[in-house]
Amino acid sequence: MISKQAAYHELYKSAQTAGQSHIFRDWDALSEIQQQQLLLQIKSIHFNEITNLAQHHIHDDESTHFSGKIEPVHAIPIPKTTEQKLIAQKMCHIGEEALQSGEVGVLLVAGGQGSRLGFDGPKGIFPITPVLQKSLFHLHAEKIKALSVKYRTRLPFYIMTSQANHAATLAFFAKHDYFGLDSADVFFFQQGMLPALDGTGKMIIDAPGHLFMNPNGHGGVLEALAESGALADMQKRGLQHIYYFQVDNVLAKICDPVFLGYHIEAQAEMSSKVVAKRDAYEKVGVIGKIDGKLGVIEYSDLSEQDKTATTDTGELRYNAGSIAIHIIDVAFIQQFAQHDLGLPWHVAHKKIPYLNEDGQLVQPDAPNGYKFEKFIFDALAFVNKSVVMEVDRDEEFSPVKNSTGEDSPQTAQQAMSRLFAKWLRQAGFTIAEPGLPKIEISSLFATDADEFCAKFSGQGKIDSAFYIE
Ligand code: UTP
Repeated sequence: MISKQAAYHELYKSAQTAGQSHIFRDWDALSEIQQQQLLLQIKSIHFNEITNLAQHHIHDDESTHFSGKIEPVHAIPIPKTTEQKLIAQKMCHIGEEALQSGEVGVLLVAGGQGSRLGFDGPKGIFPITPVLQKSLFHLHAEKIKALSVKYRTRLPFYIMTSQANHAATLAFFAKHDYFGLDSADVFFFQQGMLPALDGTGKMIIDAPGHLFMNPNGHGGVLEALAESGALADMQKRGLQHIYYFQVDNVLAKICDPVFLGYHIEAQAEMSSKVVAKRDAYEKVGVIGKIDGKLGVIEYSDLSEQDKTATTDTGELRYNAGSIAIHIIDVAFIQQFAQHDLGLPWHVAHKKIPYLNEDGQLVQPDAPNGYKFEKFIFDALAFVNKSVVMEVDRDEEFSPVKNSTGEDSPQTAQQAMSRLFAKWLRQAGFTIAEPGLPKIEISSLFATDADEFCAKFSGQGKIDSAFYIE
């Protein structure tokens, strides 16, 4: 084993070569444990990458003017005509067959810091369902459990965490007995972290012997899958299609067979679900082409003219709002690992607390540092074939981002109650209005409206909290 002294010298040399020797400035004053922790942190840093980020990414930030040539893409519409409905049914069969034959796995990215929600702990443990207040993790795990029963299959569940929430996530699943899932089918893995940089490209010290680091974005999942052994596990199990979703979307329809069917039929490598934008000014990225390559066009990169442009039928030309639900093929993930295909970095200018020269913690009141992240949708630029499918926002997208207001726990709970009220109405019930009661239907009872109606029909009025499992 390499001694602490040797490790110190080796890492000091790398830091010095990269112009980052200041990260050792408090070394002599640190306790033995702090020294060990600092060495561990520094060991995880790829100095060449940091030098590259400092040189090429921190000065052009917001001042960079987007100049890509953009085009909209065709999205498969929500089926309305008989013909569209018949095709959707056919796709559903294809998707269901893939599920039954055990070719599908589920991938949840839950490594984010959830800073806007301001909840102390992994976002996945936030209590969210309208009646029983089940956590986000519980809600999603129940959907997976229900699907594995419905399709008599194993649905391996891969969960990406990051350093700050890994232990708490594992403990939460263990405490709740994996919410009824077989623990052998739940695979946790951690994404990478990297240091934030100040305006001069220096790493930021935020506590004695500690650097401010952040998770490397949901796009970090591709590297993390390969490095953690999760990709090898997928291959060993013979999985072909991985259903990707994010922890904060309470309405995420996991393993939607119709979407799977379209993806498989088109022999696509990575596909995306989208919703129609609420209006021209909704701040959401849209799936489109940038310089001929598929990707997400950021809201800020659309000119006023592009934002409001409409088609012959009166819809927005750039209307395919991304909801961060994808199917990614295992072979496509493998390509990234094998050919070391990197996703581009995105930079964000943020307020980052730091220790000043006198060792005092400063909370800046203006952005002082740069955080770097990779985004999963940038992998779309590497596909040969891809499907973009439009879905109904009210049925499939309600994310928990903020503590109050838009995209908050309150709006997510209302969205769930509204969706389940629709199922109940379809089953023959009336719902008290106004003042929609809290309604919750566990996936263990039904995973969609048709299944619900087949099991539960009747008459009567729902005028108080309703739960069924
Ligand atoms: P967001 O970009 O909304 O970030 O993540 P967040 O961490 O949830 O919240 P803020 O921005 O700090 O308020 C969307 C999804 O991507 C995951 C999140 O856990 C969430 O499921 N994510 C994000 C990661 O897994 N890793 C990351 O580095 C960033």
